[in-house]
Amino acid sequence: MATLPSRRVRAATRGELRRRRRTIAQAIGSDSVLLIPAATEVPRNRDVHYPFRQDSDFTYLTGFPEPDALAVIVPKRKQGEFVLFCRPRDPEREIWDGFRHGTEGAVASFGADQAFPLAELDAKLPELLADRRRIYYPLGTEGDLDLQVMEWLRAVRRQARAGVSAPNELVSSDRIIHEQRLRKGAGELAVMRAAAAISAAAHRQLMQTCQPGLTEQQLEGVFLHACAEQGARFQAYQPIVGGGANACVLHYIDNNAPLRDGDLVLVDAGCELQGYASDITRTFPVNGRFSPAQRALYDLVLAAQRAAIEQVRPGRRWNQPHEAALQVLTRGLLELGLIEGSIEALPRLIEEEAYKPFYMHRTGHWLGMDVHDVGDYKQDGKWRRFEPGMVLTVEPGLYVAPDAPAPAQFRGIGIRIEDDVLVTTEGREVLSANVPKEAAEIEALMATGTSRRRPATRRRQPAPPRSQASGDRRKR
Ligand code: GLY
Ligand code: MN
Ligand code: MN
Repeated sequence: MATLPSRRVRAATRGELRRRRRTIAQAIGSDSVLLIPAATEVPRNRDVHYPFRQDSDFTYLTGFPEPDALAVIVPKRKQGEFVLFCRPRDPEREIWDGFRHGTEGAVASFGADQAFPLAELDAKLPELLADRRRIYYPLGTEGDLDLQVMEWLRAVRRQARAGVSAPNELVSSDRIIHEQRLRKGAGELAVMRAAAAISAAAHRQLMQTCQPGLTEQQLEGVFLHACAEQGARFQAYQPIVGGGANACVLHYIDNNAPLRDGDLVLVDAGCELQGYASDITRTFPVNGRFSPAQRALYDLVLAAQRAAIEQVRPGRRWNQPHEAALQVLTRGLLELGLIEGSIEALPRLIEEEAYKPFYMHRTGHWLGMDVHDVGDYKQDGKWRRFEPGMVLTVEPGLYVAPDAPAPAQFRGIGIRIEDDVLVTTEGREVLSANVPKEAAEIEALMATGTSRRRPATRRRQPAPPRSQASGDRRKR
């Protein structure tokens, strides 16, 4: 079997992880210590846990995959800068839960200069904090860490008469790590390209599979299967599959309604690969053909998305894609009669947010290890400028709720088109380009779908629930 695309890429080599730790060590300076905890397992019920997902900052600096660990970076320490506390090997537990790297593995495979069992944390940490001025850690975010840090501080203070000085500043580690995470390296980009390619292929498969009578959940199932089959076992977030007016609920995740002939379906779904997210939305007609009203709104959202993507290039500011989208959307809403006013009044309508009843979110977010990735959007009070290596989503939409003050033909239509965009030195690269978004291209792809190649009389469909008689073209 050919190697899965997901296996041909690697986000970070050991050397890259070491470089990241070095950069952080230099940034915090030799009078500081950095503490970054691993994620812990979260119980779901009795002996069952939610799927484990490692903390992104911890992965970024260590690559260590296990729960219950703490990375300590102690710049210029004689015995080495990188100390990892983790679960020790445990033959008994490993029979049940599988392999653990243990302290030996932390050193041999993850480049720790020293590693200790987690149980030795309280004994060892005060030593590592002694005579340092600042502690960087995820202040105020992790469960018990704030309390633990206070305990360790007290333990250092108790050594004052022995001439040991205790840290006197606690600093959030967020900014210093997140600025680094915001600019992606070559390995990270290779993984993000692969993640986007897997999700794009899964979205194409949805378009080919979709037909009236399936449920939102069945489409979700196709997506999950397509990702898993390509090597991406986890999703970056819960997929949103909203048929008809469900698309107007921005974070709709019930995904349990039948898909109706004549409706659109909005699918916002993206896999996670090696801890990196993809985030793609496509909206397409359940029966393979856009109605004129759907097409009018769809083409408007697409024009807004293209105008927004055009603004992604080095030097432009974060808000420029959003503002380009607002220009196109507001003008289009005027022309289609969804908002009232004259074209001369366009700047005032934008200023007054006349689009807000139909477009209530912003046009994107940073993308990386987290789907809503880290990194400041403003610097010194101004929207920050794009730089090569930054990745963002561009995702305008229009949502005309069933009871919206809008012409009847538009009510109950929700549309979003979302791509993942890398800022390059020349401009941009759309990582998720490999799934159609022109209406005609979508219709052409859907026409090749398995369901549509068969004559209508021979179509096999799951029986729709009684309230959803087939052929029902009414909008919700
Ligand atoms: N899927 C979450 C988002 O688009 O922001
Ligand atoms: Mn998004
Ligand atoms: Mn999304």
